Amino acid sequence: DYFQEPFRPGFHFTPELNWMNDPNGLTYFGGEYHLFYQHNPLGNVWGHMSWGHAVSKDMFHWEHLPIAMYEENGVMVYSGSCIIDHNNTSGFGTGDEPPMIAIYTGHSDERETQDIAYSNDRGRTWTKYGENPVIDLGKKDFRDPKVFWHPPSQKWCMVVSLAREKRLQFYASPDLKNWSLLSEFGPAGVRSKSNWECPDLFELPIENEPGHTRWVLEADMGNGAVAGGSGGEYFTGMFDGQTFRADSTDSKWVDYGRDFYAPVTYSNLPRDDGRRVWVGWMNNWSTALNPTYPWRSAMSVPRELSLRRIGDQLRLCQRPVASIESLRKEPMLISNMEIEDGDTTLSARGQQLDLMLVIDPGTARRFGVRVLKGDHEQTEIGYDMATESLSVDRTQSGNVKFHQDFSGKHAGPLGLDPNGQVRLRLLVDRCSVEVFGGEGETVLTDLIFPSASSDRIELFAEGGRATVVDGQVFQLDASMGPNANP
Ligand code: FRU
Repeated sequence: DYFQEPFRPGFHFTPELNWMNDPNGLTYFGGEYHLFYQHNPLGNVWGHMSWGHAVSKDMFHWEHLPIAMYEENGVMVYSGSCIIDHNNTSGFGTGDEPPMIAIYTGHSDERETQDIAYSNDRGRTWTKYGENPVIDLGKKDFRDPKVFWHPPSQKWCMVVSLAREKRLQFYASPDLKNWSLLSEFGPAGVRSKSNWECPDLFELPIENEPGHTRWVLEADMGNGAVAGGSGGEYFTGMFDGQTFRADSTDSKWVDYGRDFYAPVTYSNLPRDDGRRVWVGWMNNWSTALNPTYPWRSAMSVPRELSLRRIGDQLRLCQRPVASIESLRKEPMLISNMEIEDGDTTLSARGQQLDLMLVIDPGTARRFGVRVLKGDHEQTEIGYDMATESLSVDRTQSGNVKFHQDFSGKHAGPLGLDPNGQVRLRLLVDRCSVEVFGGEGETVLTDLIFPSASSDRIELFAEGGRATVVDGQVFQLDASMGPNANP
């Protein structure tokens, strides 16, 4: 049975079978959230890259659909995006509904090109364009196009990566077939021997500054990221339809954990809902062959994005989308619970949890919560007053020995809130923790492989007494997996 499989999550998307990496083509259309993904139909390791496909009405109950596009004649279907061509600028539309267009990288041994495909049946069947490629520089390592409509210039815009050179290119097109180069960005940001993949570029509102927006340019490096291995960095700045001007050439980290890669934002979300939502691959190229079977890799929960001014910086904030609240059951509420130097086990337990904690540090030096605790296992989420940092310690998170680089502790900077308290939101789903600190300005995403029996929750304080001013612990329904009927 599906949910008896080791580590199979309950509210995160996983492929039914076999290997998955990056999310692709995230689009909302006709009441459905589409998720395409890098997929190997033939095994649970990377290879034969195709686009797997699933749809959902709420981004938590997923229906698996047939594979959208297969590798053909030695050309694999690498990462890319989808848009809805409302005005049929491409001419691919045939009926009353606008066509869905996928813009992806065609990968062969010789080169990487940008290719397109279209669907006139809500993404169920796809036709690759007969005159592909639409952009060909005769180069390898040129990939991962993200396309969006830019209203002021009335054109399609694309950001795409010259991966090895750590350079992004921006293109524009009237019809998705003919593209002209606008400008370039990079190399910039973290100086390491890393590449740049899966870029995204989008505009976000600044919280508490009505009418003010800024653009975010995000790109991912396969190795050399903050917690080791793969991870993303971002720049804030302005994009005028031609050029991206960064506020600073220093980038910021997207996630301080080790397992959040290649996030991309949804296109075509309803205008009146104004949200910007992204999903990332919860894995890391350096330790990707982890102990799950017969599937491999999960997607993060969908996260709503905004910008927030913190000190003199604009920080990207990520929060789980609100619809996750519909999965909550069996709440346990905590108020003004004092944690003396030591620990307190809660009556609530489980491996699929949504936890919210507001903690007053009091006299404690360190404090936090341990989840998936068994006699010899735990995953510790801690806050350290001296370094003002939030951490995930997965050194005792069950099977940590499957790879020599897996075991470890990851930390990111987090200030106290205006009341001098620490705010935490934590999602646990059998093989992962996603920790959102503050208003979501510091996020840590980490895979873990605990025993099925490790399900206790413990609050702790060290060096003094801390108080959980306000806490909520919910179970998230495990029956609501990809195969469940809502
Ligand atoms: C990123 C990536 C992309 C590429 C895809 C291939 O994880 O390397 O650059 O398109 O995976 O599966």
